[in-house]
Amino acid sequence: MRLTAICVYLLGILRFSDGEFRFASYYGDHMVLQKAPERAVLWGFGPDDAKVTIYLSGQAAAPAVSVFAGIWRVTLVPVQAGGPYNVTAVFQNQSITLTDVLFGDVWLCGGQSNMAFTTSQVFNASEEMALASEFPHVRIFMASLEQSHTELIDLAGLEVPWSVPTGELLGGGDFKHYSAVCWMFGRLLYKTLRYPIGLVESCWGGTPVEAWSSPRALRNCGLDRTNKLPMSSITSMISAGWTNSVLWNAMIYPLLNMTLKGAIWYQGESNTEYNQKKYSCTFPSMIDDWRMAFHQSSGGQTAVDFPFGFVQLSTYIKSSVYDGFPNVRWHQTADYGFAPNLRMKNTFMAVAMDLGDEMSPYGSIHPRDKQDVAYRLSLGARAVAYGEKSLAFQGPFPNSVLVNDNHINVTYDQRVSVTQSQDIFEIFCLMVKAPGDSLSSWVPAPILQWGLSSVLVSTTKCSSRDNVAGLRYAWRDWPCDLKACPVYSADGVLPAPPFTQPLARH
Ligand SMILES: *[C@@H]1O[C@H](CO)[C@@H](O)[C@H](O)[C@H]1NC(C)=O
Ligand SMILES: *[C@@H]1O[C@H](CO)[C@@H](O)[C@H](O)[C@H]1NC(C)=O
Ligand SMILES: *[C@@H]1O[C@H](CO)[C@@H](O)[C@H](O)[C@H]1NC(C)=O
Ligand SMILES: *[C@@H]1O[C@H](CO)[C@@H](O)[C@H](O)[C@H]1NC(C)=O
Ligand SMILES: *[C@@H]1O[C@H](CO)[C@@H](O)[C@H](O)[C@H]1NC(C)=O
Repeated sequence: MRLTAICVYLLGILRFSDGEFRFASYYGDHMVLQKAPERAVLWGFGPDDAKVTIYLSGQAAAPAVSVFAGIWRVTLVPVQAGGPYNVTAVFQNQSITLTDVLFGDVWLCGGQSNMAFTTSQVFNASEEMALASEFPHVRIFMASLEQSHTELIDLAGLEVPWSVPTGELLGGGDFKHYSAVCWMFGRLLYKTLRYPIGLVESCWGGTPVEAWSSPRALRNCGLDRTNKLPMSSITSMISAGWTNSVLWNAMIYPLLNMTLKGAIWYQGESNTEYNQKKYSCTFPSMIDDWRMAFHQSSGGQTAVDFPFGFVQLSTYIKSSVYDGFPNVRWHQTADYGFAPNLRMKNTFMAVAMDLGDEMSPYGSIHPRDKQDVAYRLSLGARAVAYGEKSLAFQGPFPNSVLVNDNHINVTYDQRVSVTQSQDIFEIFCLMVKAPGDSLSSWVPAPILQWGLSSVLVSTTKCSSRDNVAGLRYAWRDWPCDLKACPVYSADGVLPAPPFTQPLARH
């Protein structure tokens, strides 16, 4: 078993290492390396026993290292944000140079088609693509779409090598390059931070979380490496069968040595019909595993709890009564309803259920408003990853729910802005007050009135107060029209995320 692992590992190196002196595939001109206080890791291939030294615009930037088993690896001194630098690796009389390298924060962008959704596909696409020239210090990179049954040492290919952004690169074809959410997140961060941002896109449409998870992460949730996604997924128009871990192997594992600041993620649609109930385990487990693996492989440079932002699922079918979307939205938060939470520390969430786009030419599962998605993510990053303490980044969430005679008083953790709705809140009623119908079910709980931070909902559709056993909000595939859900933060910017909770009987 152990011997097999070693053989597979050596075969992996042979596949990429030909004794030629070079950097690993994802180091390139125009790249961004992680700035101080973290130290960037650089690695590559070369003939055994050679001594490699790295220079940063002429200055030695780390002690010389030896090539071992065809691979060299250097951890640079900490470098403040800025640049450009030339990064030169020298051994004997050979040298290889990366030019126009900046130091800043490096973010990984992962997920399925809503992350792959390109800048040319969004609303106001031409304005967005024209912005590229204003952000020469936001650099973009994208791994090509590859699968593997074993962990790859290096990427098998690049879709976009490190580049200064241009309209052509941002609009390189539908679902091709470059990710709108990733790009807009990067340019919004740049506007606040004013130093270089490196974006690493590694995502693939129609993929379940299991494909991006290591066998180790899956085992935590009782899954083994052989599970396969059936072809009949709802997203089959953009999905094939997926074997567990194949994208972890080919599109994440090779990146582990790169020092990162954080990651953002937009995925979950494929899991509405595949291992849906496990998602509250598989998603947090993948985050933990990525964190551990990036931390270890970078020699401790990438934080062991690096910030991880994600987009809560948007919408799919307006009239749908299927609960796959609300369930996965909930499971994306490990069933807490908000992020960060006790299970998912140092995470942040962009709510998107109010950004539905029924007329999207790319299918209603692909809403075109990615500006608001990226903006909400950027607020989460500023608060959680960059410590802007007073910045609001979460919509209202209830901190108490009191059942009274004819109503429930839902008190939120912040001031709210509310519009009337007859059915966005629902109560679970053990005995419904309707002729001939005493079955327990969810029934609408109309909003009666609201205060600065509370909402009163009616319980009169239930036969008695004692029979009110649960309360939920926005629990459907398509809860509201564009930016018109009934509960937002007081300034109307951040939607209250959906929740469901049991109520104690009285
Ligand atoms: C990097 O190298 C190029 C080509 O050798 C040179 O023109 C440029 O001035 C160098 N830049 C820096 C910052 O050293
Ligand atoms: C480097 O040196 C070796 C011998 O020591 C020689 O064969 C080779 O041509 C040299 N390469 C360059 C790029 O000068
Ligand atoms: C990371 O660097 C080490 C060398 O320290 C190398 O053995 C390994 O193959 C590199 N890649 C990954 C994915 O660990
Ligand atoms: C598109 O541009 C219009 C006009 O500037 C603006 O009102 C609208 O909010 C933009 N849409 C998005 C999704 O940003
Ligand atoms: C609802 O509860 C909050 C505090 O929990 C309270 O301030 C508010 O007055 C209550 N509303 C009503 C109508 O009882």
